[in-house]
Amino acid sequence: MKAICTLALSLLSAAQAAAASATVNGTRFAIDGKTGYFAGTNSYWISFLTDNRNVDTVMDHSSSSGLTILRVWGFNDVTTRPGSGTVWLQINTGADGLQRLDYVIQSAEKRGVKLIINFVNYWDDYGSMNAYVKAFGGTREGWYPNTCAQQQYKKYIQAVVSPYARPGAVFAWELANEPRCKGCSTDVIYRWATDVSAYVRSLDPNHMITLGVEGFGIPGDTTYPYQYGEGADFVKNLGIKDLDFGTFHKYPNHWGVPFSFGEGWIKNHAAAYKAAGKPCLLQEYGADGRCDIQKPWQQASLALAASGMAGDLF
Ligand SMILES: *[C@@H]1O[C@H](CO)[C@@H](O)[C@H](O)[C@H]1NC(C)=O
Repeated sequence: MKAICTLALSLLSAAQAAAASATVNGTRFAIDGKTGYFAGTNSYWISFLTDNRNVDTVMDHSSSSGLTILRVWGFNDVTTRPGSGTVWLQINTGADGLQRLDYVIQSAEKRGVKLIINFVNYWDDYGSMNAYVKAFGGTREGWYPNTCAQQQYKKYIQAVVSPYARPGAVFAWELANEPRCKGCSTDVIYRWATDVSAYVRSLDPNHMITLGVEGFGIPGDTTYPYQYGEGADFVKNLGIKDLDFGTFHKYPNHWGVPFSFGEGWIKNHAAAYKAAGKPCLLQEYGADGRCDIQKPWQQASLALAASGMAGDLF
């Protein structure tokens, strides 16, 4: 049975690969045949909306303002079943479950908006690694090598990915939001990301895959975000074969560094990506809504469009 399923999937992918709608082109992205620098934003809450009209409004705004890439949460894990009217996703294929995410995907598809869809949160909001820990025991830092937790996580990934393993609105699948492993060897996240990205690739060869890290652990400075204490090695993870592009985030005031830290943070990531020959996406950033601070970041990112930076998502 397993062999038959694998064969069917590979025949399908061969026929559809040519039509894939968001791909890598060197250190840039190509969307629907156009290679360039892309802007976008984050909407973690859109798959929890229960009224289709609200989803359409967000997609209309995203499309009309040139925000081509929208990053959304593809997870909402619960440990007890919520009351009616509340959307929960793991594993719920019903009308208050993955059908909500399906509507988001359909609505994006109609408007040419491309989605980054994420599978789990490191932080406790919307379930997260700690929801698995409640079910299977252990600790959050122990989630990565926990066999039962990983089996369930992969089962969930299969439920989310399999219906969309065809060209369409998916820009990329993302393994986790801001995965950290405090005090761990950087091998823990590296091994986990290598294994899971290969699994996603086996389910869907048509879409890009990314890790979702904040960009910690990179040469260039001695401040906290550059260090390896959160268990992530940016450059090492960049070498993982099934990760098509890299991500980094930027929240200087939450990380205890001055706002002026920002431009070096962009330059150092772009340089690492250029060296690896993969695109680099500044996929979450903020300075408490201060446009005067964020605008120079956007300009610095855009100025590096030919040298590693492929887009930014405020
Ligand atoms: C890749 O980008 C270059 C320009 O940077 C362009 O000439 C080429 O057509 C692109 N290739 C694809 C497959 O989009």
